[in-house]
Amino acid sequence: MNKNYYITTPIYYPSAKPHMGHAYSSIVVDFFARFKRIEGYKVFFLTGTDEHGLKIQRAAEKNKKKPLEFCDEISKTFKELSKTLNLSNNDFIRTTEKRHHKSVQNLWNILEKKGEIYLSKYSGWYSVSDEAFYSDDETETRDDVKVAKSSGSSVEWLEEESYFFKLSNWQNKLLELYEKSPSFILPKSRKNEVVSFVKSGLKDLSVSRKSFSWGIKVPSNKEHVIYVWLDALTNYLSAINYPDTNSDMYKNFWPADLHMIGKDILRFHAVYWPAFLLAADLPPPKRVYGHGWILSGEEKMSKSKGNILDPVEIINEHGLDALRYYLLKEVSFGNDGNISKEKLISCINSDLANNFGNLCQRVLAFTEKNIGLQIPQIDSLNKEDLIILNSYSDNYQNLIDFINNQNINSYMNFIVDQMFKANKYFNDQEPWKKKEDTKRLSTIIYTSLELIRKISTLLYPVIPQSSLKALNIFKIKENEIYIETIKNNSFLKSGSAINKIDILFKKVIVND
Ligand code: MSP
Repeated sequence: MNKNYYITTPIYYPSAKPHMGHAYSSIVVDFFARFKRIEGYKVFFLTGTDEHGLKIQRAAEKNKKKPLEFCDEISKTFKELSKTLNLSNNDFIRTTEKRHHKSVQNLWNILEKKGEIYLSKYSGWYSVSDEAFYSDDETETRDDVKVAKSSGSSVEWLEEESYFFKLSNWQNKLLELYEKSPSFILPKSRKNEVVSFVKSGLKDLSVSRKSFSWGIKVPSNKEHVIYVWLDALTNYLSAINYPDTNSDMYKNFWPADLHMIGKDILRFHAVYWPAFLLAADLPPPKRVYGHGWILSGEEKMSKSKGNILDPVEIINEHGLDALRYYLLKEVSFGNDGNISKEKLISCINSDLANNFGNLCQRVLAFTEKNIGLQIPQIDSLNKEDLIILNSYSDNYQNLIDFINNQNINSYMNFIVDQMFKANKYFNDQEPWKKKEDTKRLSTIIYTSLELIRKISTLLYPVIPQSSLKALNIFKIKENEIYIETIKNNSFLKSGSAINKIDILFKKVIVND
């Protein structure tokens, strides 16, 4: 069985500081990467910045900086955000790096050699903000401004010599791909949009620009720079040593298992990208998932709308794990979601402090007081012990399937339900009334500690820092976490010492 797993975030435009939308994509990918690692996979998790093109060139000019100097500065803030978000990425790629130039030019040369690229002239609409070409019927006039219907970004008329990729030749092959791999595009609703776009007929795609210079040069014609999307998409190959297709990195990790992206850039990933790859005789990725947007009010956050939510502010106020937990649990994954302070606080107070944190503290305090800080012996487990303990092994395969289908909400619902049930178990068993029956007392304590261990293991991909703190009760280190162990009801070794831990989550006091 292939135990490698390659997962990517989009590479972000360093045109302005990162915001909550970027943080969301990255946290989601980190969640999957961490889960696959504790499932025993060798994971390669890639993120980075997309630094070429007119959008970046203009942003640099506006800031009176040279493009590279500007990118160095902003890309650094994305790198710092990765640290702030506790991302477990294995690499951070910048498209201004040499390894990437080499890889893009190589892909271009192959496409050109195969006759997939030809020189002609482009005339049509272009949105610099989206770095996308639009046909006339994809645009409309709003308040006297010509905009792209899909994104609302303004478009400008463009007429220049350009290289074209023969996208029209790949229409049937793409439709075949969508049919043969029904989960190539998820969620399903988004897949339908893509399929009908491709069915409606694909035009050849302009893949070079002549009127500005901030990009990777076309190897055979230095007057042209390569279209920023052909450039950007190739980052997924550059990071695994392409063009060296004999390298271990390439062999282990291509095709990528999952490109996680926002729904705004699905067309680039689910149409153009597989077409480029198929045309170059390279296998397409296994899956592209287009998640929804984090809205600010009713709108997508963007710099031009001035409605940016800053993840760092929320983290400073409530902590990283609270934000991670909130985004993963409360956003219905695949759909748009709103950031609501009330819901964030309710996650902290009810789920994290009252439910999970309190379970750990209560059980630990009770254990210390009654049997000392150690794992007790277990006597025979009764029906109630077995029902709650076995619900993990009974649901194990479901949990794995939830992750493989990117069903974050079902995974989170299982955890919330288990936190609730574990607290209820401890209450219902009333161990404080069983002090005379030491065997039963020990068994209840053992079962409760096992439940804390299982829940903390499940929480590792969601709130890694807090999960590690909780697992420290049992001296379990990060590289010792395996999801499979939740199936084991006697993982904890009787007689071994346990640690006390600090309070995991402080409740937020709300003043009306
Ligand atoms: N540079 C391109 C991607 C190239 S990938 C080969 C790009 N960059 S971006 O910075 O504009 O946005 C990248 C991604 O950030 C989006 O696809 C999405 O995943 C995420 N988000 C940006 N704004 C968002 C929200 N408001 N909500 C959720 N995610 C959003 O497009």
